[in-house]
Amino acid sequence: MPSRPIVVVTRRLPDAVERRLAERFDVRLNPSDTALDAVALTAALQDADGVLCTVTDRLTAEVLRAASPRRARIVANFGVGYNHVDVATARALGLVVTNTPGVLTEDTADVALALILMAARRLGEGERQLRAGAWPGWSPTHLLGMSLGGRTLGVVGYGRIGQALARRARLGLGMHVRFVTRTPRPADDVASPAESLDALLAESDVVSVHAPATAETRHLIDAAALGRMQRHAVLVNTARGDLVDEEALADALRRGTIAAAGLDVYEREPRVPPALVGLENVVLLPHLGSATDATRQAMGDRALANLAAFFDGAEPPDRVA
Ligand code: DGY
Repeated sequence: MPSRPIVVVTRRLPDAVERRLAERFDVRLNPSDTALDAVALTAALQDADGVLCTVTDRLTAEVLRAASPRRARIVANFGVGYNHVDVATARALGLVVTNTPGVLTEDTADVALALILMAARRLGEGERQLRAGAWPGWSPTHLLGMSLGGRTLGVVGYGRIGQALARRARLGLGMHVRFVTRTPRPADDVASPAESLDALLAESDVVSVHAPATAETRHLIDAAALGRMQRHAVLVNTARGDLVDEEALADALRRGTIAAAGLDVYEREPRVPPALVGLENVVLLPHLGSATDATRQAMGDRALANLAAFFDGAEPPDRVA
Protein backbone atom coordinates (compact mmCIF):
# COMPACT_ATOMS: atom_id res chain seq x y z
CA MET A 1 0.00 0.00 0.00
CA PRO A 2 1.49 3.42 -0.95
CA SER A 3 2.46 5.54 2.07
CA ARG A 4 -0.16 8.03 3.15
CA PRO A 5 0.57 11.78 3.41
CA ILE A 6 1.70 12.84 6.88
CA VAL A 7 -0.52 15.59 8.28
CA VAL A 8 0.27 17.45 11.50
CA VAL A 9 -2.90 18.64 13.26
CA THR A 10 -1.83 21.50 15.52
CA ARG A 11 -4.74 21.44 18.02
CA ARG A 12 -7.33 18.95 19.30
CA LEU A 13 -10.29 18.76 16.91
CA PRO A 14 -13.70 17.16 17.53
CA ASP A 15 -13.18 13.38 17.92
CA ALA A 16 -15.17 12.53 14.79
CA VAL A 17 -13.04 14.88 12.69
CA GLU A 18 -9.80 13.42 14.07
CA ARG A 19 -11.14 9.95 13.22
CA ARG A 20 -12.03 10.96 9.67
CA LEU A 21 -8.62 12.55 9.18
CA ALA A 22 -6.92 9.37 10.44
CA GLU A 23 -8.85 7.29 7.88
CA ARG A 24 -7.30 9.30 5.08
CA PHE A 25 -3.88 10.47 6.36
CA ASP A 26 -1.01 9.49 8.59
CA VAL A 27 -2.06 12.06 11.20
CA ARG A 28 0.12 13.46 13.96
CA LEU A 29 -2.33 14.74 16.56
CA ASN A 30 -1.72 17.11 19.46
CA PRO A 31 -3.21 15.32 22.50
CA SER A 32 -2.02 18.04 24.91
CA ASP A 33 -3.90 20.70 22.87
CA THR A 34 -1.34 23.39 23.72
CA ALA A 35 -0.73 25.96 20.99
CA LEU A 36 2.42 25.26 18.98
CA ASP A 37 5.25 27.80 19.21
CA ALA A 38 7.42 28.92 16.29
CA VAL A 39 9.91 26.07 16.80
CA ALA A 40 7.20 23.40 16.79
CA LEU A 41 5.49 24.94 13.76
CA THR A 42 8.79 25.03 11.89
CA ALA A 43 9.37 21.37 12.74
CA ALA A 44 5.84 20.50 11.56
CA LEU A 45 6.47 22.17 8.20
CA GLN A 46 9.77 20.31 7.90
CA ASP A 47 8.49 16.87 8.86
CA ALA A 48 4.94 16.62 7.46
CA ASP A 49 3.40 16.76 3.99
CA GLY A 50 0.59 18.96 5.24
CA VAL A 51 -0.22 21.04 8.33
CA LEU A 52 -3.77 21.53 9.56
CA CYS A 53 -3.50 24.74 11.61
CA THR A 54 -5.80 27.04 13.55
CA VAL A 55 -6.03 30.73 14.42
CA THR A 56 -3.62 30.12 17.34
CA ASP A 57 -0.74 29.18 15.01
CA ARG A 58 1.32 32.16 13.90
CA LEU A 59 2.71 31.06 10.54
CA THR A 60 4.76 34.21 10.00
CA ALA A 61 7.18 34.83 7.12
CA GLU A 62 10.02 33.95 9.53
CA VAL A 63 8.46 30.60 10.48
CA LEU A 64 7.66 29.72 6.87
CA ARG A 65 11.17 30.62 5.73
CA ALA A 66 12.87 28.92 8.69
CA ALA A 67 11.32 25.60 7.66
CA SER A 68 13.98 24.82 5.12
CA PRO A 69 14.21 22.30 3.67
CA ARG A 70 10.42 22.09 3.91
CA ARG A 71 8.44 18.92 3.36
CA ALA A 72 4.97 20.44 3.73
CA ARG A 73 3.23 21.53 0.53
CA ILE A 74 -0.10 22.60 2.02
CA VAL A 75 -1.36 24.45 5.10
CA ALA A 76 -5.07 23.82 5.64
CA ASN A 77 -6.44 26.39 8.05
CA PHE A 78 -9.28 25.36 10.36
CA GLY A 79 -11.16 28.67 10.10
CA VAL A 80 -12.24 31.28 7.60
CA GLY A 81 -9.88 34.06 8.78
CA TYR A 82 -6.26 33.39 7.87
CA ASN A 83 -4.45 36.58 8.85
CA HIS A 84 -2.22 34.43 11.12
CA VAL A 85 -0.69 32.90 7.98
CA ASP A 86 1.63 35.06 5.89
CA VAL A 87 -0.01 34.16 2.58
CA ALA A 88 2.29 36.35 0.49
CA THR A 89 5.31 34.42 1.75
CA ALA A 90 3.48 31.11 1.41
CA ARG A 91 2.68 31.97 -2.19
CA ALA A 92 6.28 32.99 -2.88
CA LEU A 93 7.47 29.68 -1.43
CA GLY A 94 4.94 27.64 -3.42
CA LEU A 95 3.06 26.57 -0.30
CA VAL A 96 -0.70 26.11 -0.81
CA VAL A 97 -2.99 27.64 1.85
CA THR A 98 -6.71 26.91 2.28
CA ASN A 99 -9.44 28.06 4.68
CA THR A 100 -13.00 27.03 5.63
CA PRO A 101 -15.47 29.68 4.37
CA GLY A 102 -19.24 29.44 4.58
CA VAL A 103 -19.63 26.84 7.29
CA LEU A 104 -19.39 29.21 10.27
CA THR A 105 -21.43 32.10 8.88
CA GLU A 106 -24.68 31.61 10.80
CA ASP A 107 -23.09 30.77 14.16
CA THR A 108 -20.78 33.77 14.01
CA ALA A 109 -23.66 36.06 13.07
CA ASP A 110 -25.55 34.67 16.09
CA VAL A 111 -22.71 35.72 18.38
CA ALA A 112 -22.57 39.18 16.79
CA LEU A 113 -26.31 39.50 17.45
CA ALA A 114 -25.83 38.28 21.03
CA LEU A 115 -23.13 40.89 21.59
CA ILE A 116 -25.35 43.64 20.19
CA LEU A 117 -28.12 42.63 22.60
CA MET A 118 -25.76 42.19 25.54
CA ALA A 119 -24.01 45.51 25.04
CA ALA A 120 -27.04 47.61 24.07
CA ARG A 121 -29.24 46.19 26.85
CA ARG A 122 -26.41 46.05 29.44
CA LEU A 123 -26.99 42.34 29.98
CA GLY A 124 -23.34 41.60 30.76
CA GLU A 125 -23.31 44.27 33.43
CA GLY A 126 -26.51 42.89 34.93
CA GLU A 127 -25.22 39.33 34.99
CA ARG A 128 -21.96 40.37 36.67
CA GLN A 129 -23.83 42.47 39.20
CA LEU A 130 -26.20 39.66 40.14
CA ARG A 131 -23.40 37.08 40.50
CA ALA A 132 -21.45 39.50 42.68
CA GLY A 133 -24.46 39.64 45.03
CA ALA A 134 -24.80 43.36 44.23
CA TRP A 135 -28.28 43.42 42.67
CA PRO A 136 -30.25 45.97 44.66
CA GLY A 137 -33.60 44.65 43.33
CA TRP A 138 -35.91 45.92 40.59
CA SER A 139 -36.14 49.64 40.12
CA PRO A 140 -37.49 51.89 37.35
CA THR A 141 -34.01 53.24 36.67
CA HIS A 142 -31.86 50.11 37.03
CA LEU A 143 -29.40 49.40 34.15
CA LEU A 144 -31.35 51.18 31.44
CA GLY A 145 -30.08 50.34 27.98
CA MET A 146 -30.92 51.20 24.38
CA SER A 147 -33.94 49.66 22.64
CA LEU A 148 -32.95 48.34 19.22
CA GLY A 149 -36.13 48.32 17.12
CA GLY A 150 -36.06 51.16 14.58
CA ARG A 151 -32.38 51.93 15.27
CA THR A 152 -29.68 51.77 12.62
CA LEU A 153 -27.11 49.01 12.42
CA GLY A 154 -23.97 49.82 10.42
CA VAL A 155 -22.21 46.75 9.05
CA VAL A 156 -18.54 47.26 8.18
CA GLY A 157 -17.66 44.56 5.62
CA TYR A 158 -20.69 43.04 3.90
CA GLY A 159 -19.55 39.50 3.23
CA ARG A 160 -21.29 36.31 4.32
CA ILE A 161 -21.26 37.02 8.07
CA GLY A 162 -22.13 40.71 7.69
CA GLN A 163 -25.09 39.75 5.51
CA ALA A 164 -26.23 37.05 7.95
CA LEU A 165 -26.17 39.59 10.77
CA ALA A 166 -28.04 42.13 8.62
CA ARG A 167 -30.87 39.60 8.09
CA ARG A 168 -31.09 38.93 11.82
CA ALA A 169 -31.08 42.63 12.73
CA ARG A 170 -33.65 43.61 10.08
CA LEU A 171 -36.03 40.65 10.30
CA GLY A 172 -35.55 39.77 13.98
CA LEU A 173 -35.07 43.15 15.64
CA GLY A 174 -36.65 45.53 13.13
CA MET A 175 -33.45 47.57 12.76
CA HIS A 176 -32.52 49.57 9.66
CA VAL A 177 -29.30 48.21 8.22
CA ARG A 178 -26.63 50.09 6.28
CA PHE A 179 -23.31 48.72 5.12
CA VAL A 180 -19.94 49.60 3.65
CA THR A 181 -17.89 47.06 1.77
CA ARG A 182 -14.63 46.93 -0.21
CA THR A 183 -16.34 46.07 -3.50
CA PRO A 184 -19.33 48.41 -3.98
CA ARG A 185 -22.66 46.61 -4.19
CA PRO A 186 -26.29 47.68 -4.42
CA ALA A 187 -28.93 47.50 -1.72
CA ASP A 188 -30.53 44.10 -1.09
CA ASP A 189 -33.82 43.27 0.62
CA VAL A 190 -32.52 43.98 4.14
CA ALA A 191 -29.77 46.60 3.85
CA SER A 192 -28.54 49.51 1.77
CA PRO A 193 -25.04 50.91 1.19
CA ALA A 194 -23.82 53.95 3.13
CA GLU A 195 -21.90 56.69 1.34
CA SER A 196 -18.66 56.00 3.17
CA LEU A 197 -17.29 54.47 6.36
CA ASP A 198 -17.31 57.91 7.98
CA ALA A 199 -20.98 58.39 7.06
CA LEU A 200 -21.85 54.91 8.34
CA LEU A 201 -20.11 55.52 11.67
CA ALA A 202 -21.88 58.84 12.12
CA GLU A 203 -25.39 57.56 11.31
CA SER A 204 -25.32 54.19 13.10
CA ASP A 205 -26.61 53.42 16.58
CA VAL A 206 -24.78 50.08 16.46
CA VAL A 207 -21.65 49.37 14.40
CA SER A 208 -20.62 45.76 13.78
CA VAL A 209 -17.28 44.92 12.16
CA HIS A 210 -17.01 42.04 9.65
CA ALA A 211 -14.06 42.91 7.40
CA PRO A 212 -11.10 40.59 6.89
CA ALA A 213 -7.90 41.47 8.77
CA THR A 214 -5.33 42.77 6.29
CA ALA A 215 -2.59 45.39 6.36
CA GLU A 216 -5.18 47.88 5.01
CA THR A 217 -7.84 47.14 7.63
CA ARG A 218 -5.54 47.12 10.70
CA HIS A 219 -7.01 49.60 13.22
CA LEU A 220 -9.76 50.54 10.77
CA ILE A 221 -11.69 51.51 13.89
CA ASP A 222 -9.18 53.85 15.50
CA ALA A 223 -9.56 56.93 17.70
CA ALA A 224 -10.72 59.04 14.74
CA ALA A 225 -13.31 56.45 13.66
CA LEU A 226 -14.58 56.08 17.23
CA GLY A 227 -14.77 59.86 17.41
CA ARG A 228 -17.25 59.83 14.51
CA MET A 229 -19.66 57.49 16.34
CA GLN A 230 -22.57 58.81 18.37
CA ARG A 231 -22.33 59.00 22.17
CA HIS A 232 -25.09 56.43 22.62
CA ALA A 233 -23.64 54.06 20.00
CA VAL A 234 -22.41 50.50 20.48
CA LEU A 235 -19.44 48.85 18.71
CA VAL A 236 -19.31 45.09 18.13
CA ASN A 237 -16.36 43.08 16.77
CA THR A 238 -16.58 39.38 15.96
CA ALA A 239 -14.10 39.53 13.07
CA ARG A 240 -10.49 40.03 14.13
CA GLY A 241 -8.96 42.04 16.97
CA ASP A 242 -6.58 43.85 14.63
CA LEU A 243 -9.47 45.78 13.11
CA VAL A 244 -10.02 47.81 16.29
CA ASP A 245 -7.45 49.91 18.14
CA GLU A 246 -8.11 48.46 21.59
CA GLU A 247 -6.43 51.29 23.52
CA ALA A 248 -8.48 53.87 21.63
CA LEU A 249 -11.63 51.83 22.26
CA ALA A 250 -10.93 51.59 26.00
CA ASP A 251 -10.39 55.33 26.05
CA ALA A 252 -13.67 56.03 24.20
CA LEU A 253 -15.58 53.70 26.55
CA ARG A 254 -13.96 55.23 29.64
CA ARG A 255 -14.71 58.79 28.51
CA GLY A 256 -18.21 57.86 27.36
CA THR A 257 -17.77 59.08 23.80
CA ILE A 258 -19.47 55.82 22.81
CA ALA A 259 -21.84 53.96 25.12
CA ALA A 260 -20.73 50.34 25.00
CA ALA A 261 -18.93 47.62 23.08
CA GLY A 262 -19.08 43.86 22.63
CA LEU A 263 -15.94 41.98 21.60
CA ASP A 264 -15.29 38.34 20.72
CA VAL A 265 -11.79 38.85 19.29
CA TYR A 266 -8.61 40.63 20.40
CA GLU A 267 -5.42 41.78 18.79
CA ARG A 268 -3.08 39.56 20.84
CA GLU A 269 -5.24 36.62 21.90
CA PRO A 270 -5.54 35.28 24.51
CA ARG A 271 -4.32 38.55 26.01
CA VAL A 272 -7.16 41.00 26.61
CA PRO A 273 -6.03 44.55 27.43
CA PRO A 274 -6.49 45.22 31.17
CA ALA A 275 -7.86 48.65 30.18
CA LEU A 276 -10.87 46.82 28.69
CA VAL A 277 -11.23 44.18 31.42
CA GLY A 278 -11.60 46.96 33.99
CA LEU A 279 -14.57 48.56 32.24
CA GLU A 280 -18.25 47.76 32.90
CA ASN A 281 -19.56 48.96 29.55
CA VAL A 282 -17.86 46.31 27.42
CA VAL A 283 -18.88 42.67 26.98
CA LEU A 284 -15.84 40.41 26.53
CA LEU A 285 -16.23 36.93 25.03
CA PRO A 286 -13.37 34.46 24.46
CA HIS A 287 -13.50 34.08 20.63
CA LEU A 288 -16.62 31.92 20.58
CA GLY A 289 -18.04 32.96 17.18
CA SER A 290 -17.81 29.52 15.56
CA ALA A 291 -17.89 27.50 18.79
CA THR A 292 -20.71 25.03 18.23
CA ASP A 293 -20.37 21.30 17.86
CA ALA A 294 -21.89 21.25 14.37
CA THR A 295 -19.80 24.11 13.06
CA ARG A 296 -16.51 22.85 14.45
CA GLN A 297 -17.22 19.49 12.78
CA ALA A 298 -18.07 21.25 9.52
CA MET A 299 -14.86 23.28 9.72
CA GLY A 300 -12.86 20.09 10.26
CA ASP A 301 -14.58 18.38 7.34
CA ARG A 302 -13.89 21.36 5.13
CA ALA A 303 -10.18 21.35 6.07
CA LEU A 304 -10.14 17.60 5.38
CA ALA A 305 -11.75 18.14 1.97
CA ASN A 306 -9.07 20.67 1.09
CA LEU A 307 -6.27 18.33 2.14
CA ALA A 308 -7.84 15.37 0.36
CA ALA A 309 -8.28 17.31 -2.90
CA PHE A 310 -4.71 18.54 -2.76
CA PHE A 311 -3.18 15.11 -2.13
CA ASP A 312 -5.43 13.64 -4.86
CA GLY A 313 -3.84 16.10 -7.26
CA ALA A 314 -6.96 18.29 -7.59
CA GLU A 315 -7.45 21.97 -6.86
CA PRO A 316 -8.46 22.40 -3.18
CA PRO A 317 -11.92 24.01 -3.09
CA ASP A 318 -10.98 26.79 -0.65
CA ARG A 319 -7.53 27.78 -1.82
CA VAL A 320 -6.41 31.27 -0.69
CA ALA A 321 -2.72 30.96 -1.70
C1 DGY B 1 -12.50 31.88 11.93
O1 DGY B 1 -12.91 30.91 11.30
O2 DGY B 1 -11.89 32.80 11.39
C2 DGY B 1 -12.73 31.88 13.40
O3 DGY B 1 -12.48 33.13 13.94
C3 DGY B 1 -11.85 30.85 14.06
O4 DGY B 1 -10.56 31.02 13.62
